[in-house]
Amino acid sequence: KVSPLTDSFGRHHTYLRISLTERCNLRCDYCMPAEGVPLQPKSHLLSNEELIRLARIFVEQGVRKIRLTGGEPTIRRDIVDIVAEMKALPQLEHIGITTNGLVLTRLLPSLQRAGLDSLNISLDSLRKERFERITRRKGWERVIAGIDLAIQLGYRPKVNCVLMRNFNEDEICDFVEFTRDRPVDVRFIEYMPFSGNKWQTERLISYKETLEVIRKRFSDFEALPNGPNDTSKAYAVPGFQGQVGFITSMTEHFCGTCNRLRLTADGNIKVCLFGNKEFSLRDAMRNKDISEEDLVDLIGAAVQRKKRQHAGMLNLSQMENRPMILIGG
Ligand code: GTP
Ligand code: 5AD
Ligand code: SF4
Repeated sequence: KVSPLTDSFGRHHTYLRISLTERCNLRCDYCMPAEGVPLQPKSHLLSNEELIRLARIFVEQGVRKIRLTGGEPTIRRDIVDIVAEMKALPQLEHIGITTNGLVLTRLLPSLQRAGLDSLNISLDSLRKERFERITRRKGWERVIAGIDLAIQLGYRPKVNCVLMRNFNEDEICDFVEFTRDRPVDVRFIEYMPFSGNKWQTERLISYKETLEVIRKRFSDFEALPNGPNDTSKAYAVPGFQGQVGFITSMTEHFCGTCNRLRLTADGNIKVCLFGNKEFSLRDAMRNKDISEEDLVDLIGAAVQRKKRQHAGMLNLSQMENRPMILIGG
């Protein structure tokens, strides 16, 4: 019998990204509309019990890796319990988190005790004033301290940098430099359009362009092998402790090897980062009569509706979708 997590193109989905909240303690303008997003009442979001129930069902069906996202996942008060409870699912191999890093110095030790396997930290500028401009908040020093603490505690964090023309393209080589003495993977992300983020083609910096800039300064910058479902193309400067990756959703999409499903904070299964065809597992689950098998069937039906691809320049700039803050990447 074919797994309910295998789609009509034969892609098997073993990776679930769960958004824990719609709120964030930063205000990055490429992620959320200037006017903010209307917040739903708490009762519309999945409770801790509902989250764990769904995670367990997905893991029983074959999910092996879960990534917690947001909004900003560390805002959720029960984040440490959620990590611990997910980590306790016997067949789950990996639990990660994508965070802006603001509160890691306070929270990371408990997250590590709860079993957190990895963390990806967003940081778009190595300059404090620029960080404050894009995030419209303070906290750059705390993010840097969070990255340092993660390294001290034995993690190899990924540092996510969205490149945008006329904002941070002059820092490309500084970010490469950042990997010299730190065991971190900096990933340059191509700027993607989402609802309300005022995306413009002119602001997109393609990975080829970025690569050229890096090669001018680091001529031995070399490509490394990638995992079968990696979103990023790995590179490094020989001798540097860290690596550099490129996430090329716009100019060279990787939908053919996609193994990801998403769960929004309000309980929709979203089978692709892009497009707004979603289905409410929350509503299904709140119907007391629904059986576990019925839930699995609903998940399977959603997976069957997944399209061959959505990423890529032409598709994306036209697409109706949620704002990024309500997806979690
Ligand atoms: P791991 O491989 O688990 O480390 O995660 P990741 O790098 O895919 O996730 P992360 O949350 O760090 O996101 C980094 C960037 O990749 C963000 O801009 C995401 O929007 C983007 N991304 C994550 N998953 C997908 C995906 O399935 N498709 C596309 N096109 N982009 C993705
Ligand atoms: N394009 C590309 N990446 C984005 N992110 C947020 N918005 C965008 C966008 N418009 C990144 C965040 C975070 C990750 C989850 O997605 O910086 O690191
Ligand atoms: Fe998968 Fe959709 Fe991302 Fe393509 S755009 S890799 S199909 S989630």
